[in-house]
Amino acid sequence: MITVSAIKADIGGYVGHTSMHPDILTLGQEELEKARQRGLLVDAHASHCGDDLFLIMTHERGENDQEVHRMAWGIFVKGTELAKKLKLYGAGQDLLADAFSGTIRGAGPGSAEMEIDERPSEPIIVFMGDKTSAGSFNLPFYKMYADPFNTAGLIIAENLHQGFTFEIQDVREHLQISLNTPEEAYDALILIGAPSRYAVKRVYARSTGEIAAVSSTDKLSLIAGRYVGKDDPVAVARCQGNFPAVGEILEPFSTPYLVEGWMRGSHIGPWMPVALRDANPSRFDGPPRVVALGFQLAGGKLVGPRDMFDDPAFDRARTEANRVADYLRKHGPFEPHRLPLEEMEYTTMPLIAKKLASRWQPMA
Ligand code: F6R
Ligand code: MG
Ligand code: MG
Repeated sequence: MITVSAIKADIGGYVGHTSMHPDILTLGQEELEKARQRGLLVDAHASHCGDDLFLIMTHERGENDQEVHRMAWGIFVKGTELAKKLKLYGAGQDLLADAFSGTIRGAGPGSAEMEIDERPSEPIIVFMGDKTSAGSFNLPFYKMYADPFNTAGLIIAENLHQGFTFEIQDVREHLQISLNTPEEAYDALILIGAPSRYAVKRVYARSTGEIAAVSSTDKLSLIAGRYVGKDDPVAVARCQGNFPAVGEILEPFSTPYLVEGWMRGSHIGPWMPVALRDANPSRFDGPPRVVALGFQLAGGKLVGPRDMFDDPAFDRARTEANRVADYLRKHGPFEPHRLPLEEMEYTTMPLIAKKLASRWQPMA
């Protein structure tokens, strides 16, 4: 069995929160290589989306392995030291725990891991998000695994026709539930249509019970109890055969759906699919980005990556995202561009409520 672990954190931005300094990425790749040489990892690849460092790793130690998590935490700590030296912005921003305590979960970084029995050919896609929240993969996952207008295989491929099981987490109550589509699709949608509360953690193929996809559902604000930056989630999806084809996995991103995040984590904006070279969100600290890295696994080796959104077929999605961004920006501080009061990550409300408290009068 091979485990694919994608673990990510924002350990400092260059410039501001827009991108990653090349030295941080080099450090990430070098440290991963050391872990591979000492036999902890089979293979690894470091990448970025905006100001977040993504460690994409394969190994034979299963999910939630303490040593793999310790090594990833160590890279983020080392990267933070370098970020501090370069005075990068928000150095160590996502390292919420003071020290490693056995797992990366609940410590700030996001993680998406799946243990798989590698197929004779195993294409996977790693999605890396920036300026958005855990739960943002709910809509694309629904389209990939439950919407026949997106995934033709649900109708015309025997091995997809039974549908998929969605493992949904209530991130506030720390509960989870598994719902089968298509028959429980409406039940699933009432939940996952509210992505700030419910997030799809895993998807399984009902034909075989195999895991199809996983996403990070770690919520920084719930961990820290205050605003500390956006979650900027990661997801891994297996493709072809018993799973949707590569093109069916990418198809949801042909529409730049609205997600939470963008400036100060307090706005909605279009999720723009981009090539790696364009994963440097600068306009109004955005709009939110998503990069798709494709790999073929070969005995755990990560053959790749291919930059999947580096395709003119996604140009229209990018143009639409820019149009939607123009339109939304015109709303300035008004909802729904700005998030509702209770969901904003930044707020001056307590301060202003206090300042104005004595001036409120009963309505005439
Ligand atoms: C959003 C994000 C940025 C910052 C903004 C203000 O996830 O990281 O939009 O919230 O640039 O940052 P500070 O408060 O650090 O100046
Ligand atoms: Mg940042
Ligand atoms: Mg970020």
